[in-house]
Amino acid sequence: MTQITGELSSKSENLIEKENKYGAHNYHPLPVVLEKGEGVFVWDVDGKKYFDFLSAYSAVNQGHCHPKIVGAMVEQAQKLTLTSRAFYNDQLGVYEEYVTNYFGFEKVLPMNTGAEAVETALKLCRKWAYEVKGIPENQAQIIVCENNFHGRTTTIISFSNDQSARQSFGPFTEGFIKIPYDDTEALEKALNSSNNIAGFLVEPIQGEAGVYVPSEGFLAKAKALCKARNVLFIADEVQTGIARTGKLLAVHHENVQPDILILGKAISGGVYPVSAVLANNNIMNVIKPGQHGSTFGGNPVAAAVAVAALEVVREENLSENAERLGIMLRKGLNEIAERNPLISLVRGKGLLNAIVINSSEDSDLAWDICLRFRDYGLLAKPTHGNKIRFAPPLVITEEQIQECLVIIEKALSDFR
Ligand SMILES: Cc1ncc(COP(=O)(O)O)c(C=O)c1O
Repeated sequence: MTQITGELSSKSENLIEKENKYGAHNYHPLPVVLEKGEGVFVWDVDGKKYFDFLSAYSAVNQGHCHPKIVGAMVEQAQKLTLTSRAFYNDQLGVYEEYVTNYFGFEKVLPMNTGAEAVETALKLCRKWAYEVKGIPENQAQIIVCENNFHGRTTTIISFSNDQSARQSFGPFTEGFIKIPYDDTEALEKALNSSNNIAGFLVEPIQGEAGVYVPSEGFLAKAKALCKARNVLFIADEVQTGIARTGKLLAVHHENVQPDILILGKAISGGVYPVSAVLANNNIMNVIKPGQHGSTFGGNPVAAAVAVAALEVVREENLSENAERLGIMLRKGLNEIAERNPLISLVRGKGLLNAIVINSSEDSDLAWDICLRFRDYGLLAKPTHGNKIRFAPPLVITEEQIQECLVIIEKALSDFR
């Protein structure tokens, strides 16, 4: 593997060794061992402070250990943690009313992780297709996009085109049609290819693919095409949602209201695993008791945490902050790119951004640059080889963005 540029303390080395020895090797973390977080900062086990430029893949939008969200969790955890859905609890209904009003839907189905929420949305879409749209049983098709990332379950990887996500995990689930991302013509063709199309599942910006922003108008056009064919437009906003891109939802940039909305990550501010599927009654009411569920989904801690996390987004104007500081960050990065040809492209929306490094996808350069960022006090991670995502918590300030741009330029200049 790649060389580690900075020295690691023996404490860090020991802890990394434990993970290597006793944990499955399903991730390849950057060598830094964190023990504390507050706002935009995290600290390693030796007390070194870093800007977090990943935000746990956009889960920690409200900043690390936000006191209001942690407070809500602690208070609820001391009262009642889990009832299962065998009984009612005093938090769930309050949360359900809050979250449905917040996003403008009639109903929510609470789950825990992003992948579970995507699975839930797929099941909901299929059931609606059979029971409302009238597609013959087992014939429903859902359109998805190339280079998608929707999670890691068997059905979800069935329609991934990332070989490492699929290799030796088959056989796969049927019922998906893949089209190029950001291609309305291909969508129209797929929609017209059969009467059995139930839904179109799409990330409004492809995060894991390297923050790929579609052309302006794509989402609005896609929604209109789906509507015309009575096909559900399903937005996976697990990464783009909750103020990350400068609006509450990334689809709001084009005034689109999805038929099914999938949320995760920042709906809890990264404090607790919470995810949600939202839809109106004409869709959600196809799910009847016993047909879908989760022991932890909608538990009282999750409900209390999510209400607090969503309140913080409004109280601290995080969408506006992401919009304004995103413009500043991209401007600064483009200026660096003019001085340093190592950056071949800057792209993003709000505070979901990426730089593309001038190297091949299988080069180690982006990884080495991230190690240098770490040495200089900023944590970021490559995605798809030569892209580095920049997604700090949305509570970051103007001064901090400027400080980070200095770190980024200094680190990159070491590789010229
Ligand atoms: C768009 C999107 N959907 C779904 C997921 C899966 O979420 P989780 O890792 O919580 O299962 C992710 C995770 O990165 C994501 O970015």
